[in-house]
Amino acid sequence: MVDPSSLSNESALKEAGNKHILMHGSAYQALATDSGKKILVEGNGVIVKDIDGNEYIDALAGLWLVNVGHGRQEIGDAMARQAGTLAYASSTQATTIPAIQLATRLAEITPGDQTTAFFCSGGSESVESAIKIARQYHYHNGQPKRQKVIGRRGSYHGGTYAAMSVSGTRPVSDPYHSPFMPGVLHASPPNCYRCDFRATFPSCDLLCAGQIDQIIEYENPETVAAVIAEPISASNGIVIPPDGYWKRLREICDKHGVLLITDEVINGFGRTGKMFASNHWDLVGDILTMAKGLSSGYAPIGGVMCRPHIMEAFQGDNKLSHLLTYGGHAVACAAALANLDILEGEGLVDNSAKMGARLLKGLEELRSHPTVGDVRGLGLICGVEIVKDGATKEKFSESGEELKTLADNLHDRGLLTRAASIISLSPPLCISADEVDRIIDILDGAIGDMEDKFGLR
Ligand SMILES: Cc1ncc(COP(=O)(O)O)c(C=O)c1O
Repeated sequence: MVDPSSLSNESALKEAGNKHILMHGSAYQALATDSGKKILVEGNGVIVKDIDGNEYIDALAGLWLVNVGHGRQEIGDAMARQAGTLAYASSTQATTIPAIQLATRLAEITPGDQTTAFFCSGGSESVESAIKIARQYHYHNGQPKRQKVIGRRGSYHGGTYAAMSVSGTRPVSDPYHSPFMPGVLHASPPNCYRCDFRATFPSCDLLCAGQIDQIIEYENPETVAAVIAEPISASNGIVIPPDGYWKRLREICDKHGVLLITDEVINGFGRTGKMFASNHWDLVGDILTMAKGLSSGYAPIGGVMCRPHIMEAFQGDNKLSHLLTYGGHAVACAAALANLDILEGEGLVDNSAKMGARLLKGLEELRSHPTVGDVRGLGLICGVEIVKDGATKEKFSESGEELKTLADNLHDRGLLTRAASIISLSPPLCISADEVDRIIDILDGAIGDMEDKFGLR
């Protein structure tokens, strides 16, 4: 047993961490056995430092969320002020000044007339909330049979039950967690590099969107509550939909009276070079989900934004049948407000667009590597797809030596990211041109060394 009072030196901390912490999505002893897991102790901008003094470029902004960068004292100060004034008010009986200020500010910056906020503590809860609000909306509108939800294959919407069920990553969780929430269907993603229909844009005439129309018609529109989709799916490999996809999907939902839930949990708050990814396509979802960049990870906060027609269903005695103790937590709202001050005050959304364009241009040059099959991105959310064979697009095994070597090469060169067959890049939005160039150099070297080791070039 480790004595908690001895936890001041490195090795005691590592030992205690191995024993007492179960990492998310990892085996129990992962911290002990996997060199990719580490104890981080401080950060500044895009750089984080581990307990051994090693420095890394945080090319995934933590888990796609530290948008304003690490070490922002002003957010901590705002949180401390609010905690010392009033940390909490019952989420069912009162609201607070920072919650109102945040909701009002969000009503201004979210797309279209998304004007009313419901707060929670993270992305999964925002998805759970959106689904429950959508179903209850239909109930109050006299359509209680509208229960089904359509997601897309490869999409990720969270780890809680409904969010996991609507995610298109279900095959991974199926052995342990099925049966899933009933009434969930999955459609094809708008992935032009790996089109489910073996078609080519624009001659495909957006078969992927058309398939959602067909599913709704086959299921009977009067049983379908909502379609949920990320404007740009990160989990599916940074899938940027082709022109017209969002317009078509919006029309399909409207035609059938189905609500469209736009999941902006990763996309929101400047990640794609606009405040919300929806803004790239003049898209206004009926309900928008958000978390991550809302506070840049300084406090656990998420939420949904609803349009006025949604709120009309909750008038009179129609109480929302959903409550979360921590929703609208005053300290978390104060963190989000301070985060938005930085995002707007330092022009980080514009920087995301500019640095994102630079990053994408640099990544395009990596296509000279035989294993780089595709490069995609918008703003500071980019992906490099690694393939065994560029012509056939055959993938390497996710558990094979090639991708493991590539991940190690990136790590050893000081780049923290998620490196599998897709190398995901989503650094803090405060990144400089030099730091972008450094990321490209690291990738170039790491991919080249992997190719040399396995005789691939
Ligand atoms: C698009 C999307 N929605 C929802 C979630 C769930 O968010 P959280 O992990 O904060 O619960 C995630 C998490 O990565 C996500 O990427």
